[in-house]
Amino acid sequence: MKEFEGKIAIVTGASRGIGRAIALKFAGEGARVALVARNAEALNELVGEIKGAGGEAVAIPLDVTDSRAVADGVNEVISHWKRVDFLVNNAGITRDTLLMRMKEEDWDRVISVNLKGAFNFSKAVIRQMMKQRSGVIVNISSVVGIIGNAGQTNYAASKAGLIAFTKSLAKEVGPRNVRVVAVAPGFIETDMTAVLPDEVKKAYFSNIPLRRFGKPEDVAELVAFLCSDRASYITGQTFIIDGGLT
Ligand code: NAI
Repeated sequence: MKEFEGKIAIVTGASRGIGRAIALKFAGEGARVALVARNAEALNELVGEIKGAGGEAVAIPLDVTDSRAVADGVNEVISHWKRVDFLVNNAGITRDTLLMRMKEEDWDRVISVNLKGAFNFSKAVIRQMMKQRSGVIVNISSVVGIIGNAGQTNYAASKAGLIAFTKSLAKEVGPRNVRVVAVAPGFIETDMTAVLPDEVKKAYFSNIPLRRFGKPEDVAELVAFLCSDRASYITGQTFIIDGGLT
């Protein structure tokens, strides 16, 4: 029997990169997956791939900063599948530049997508999870939210915010057997990191003891473990997955 048979998962930022790998991992383990991102076409393609492999998935195209769309999307999932077991708040963006040059809209957009997006989705699922007396929320943070990074004050603040959000919500909902955890990846090979200059990549690489960049699937394995019953006594914590970088 597959590990997540009968489970319902919502994954944000599922159209590519880490979110896509998490969605495929859940589906491969038998979960029914609601895929969230803005790009409906990319989501429908992934729905097709999952269904083609014998799984079940739906596309929910929306912007995670739009609280009404998020509430409607989650309600659609709950009325369709009657429950929600896992929420992975993975959608995230960067708008890198030194603080001195950072525009107010670069600050606002990053905080809004990375942090408020997680608030919107967590709020939309939390009542259902508490009613079920089970559920897991995984927030995708970053090592940058722990150690900081020049040129990423907005991104680092959003990712550190997710860690504190995780700890606080874990305390609120733990008594109802709902767990909340954070995952802090290091350098993972995705479209987000593909755009970095070669010298930045080289500098990261030389500081990674395992001598390779992470793959989206590496992160997906950790997320799946944290959602599983094998992690049933873990909540409120942040798990670094960085090949030894930090
Ligand atoms: P990516 O850029 O490849 O994918 C981001 C996903 O989020 C896409 O599906 C995109 O459509 C979605 N998204 C962005 N803004 C959205 C919005 N407003 N509404 C709905 N969906 C939206 O990024 P990647 O690398 O897969 O990153 C995923 C998460 O992991 C992000 O939160 C990122 O900050 C985090 N992360 C990534 C690391 C890396 O090295 N790639 C390292 C540490 C954390």
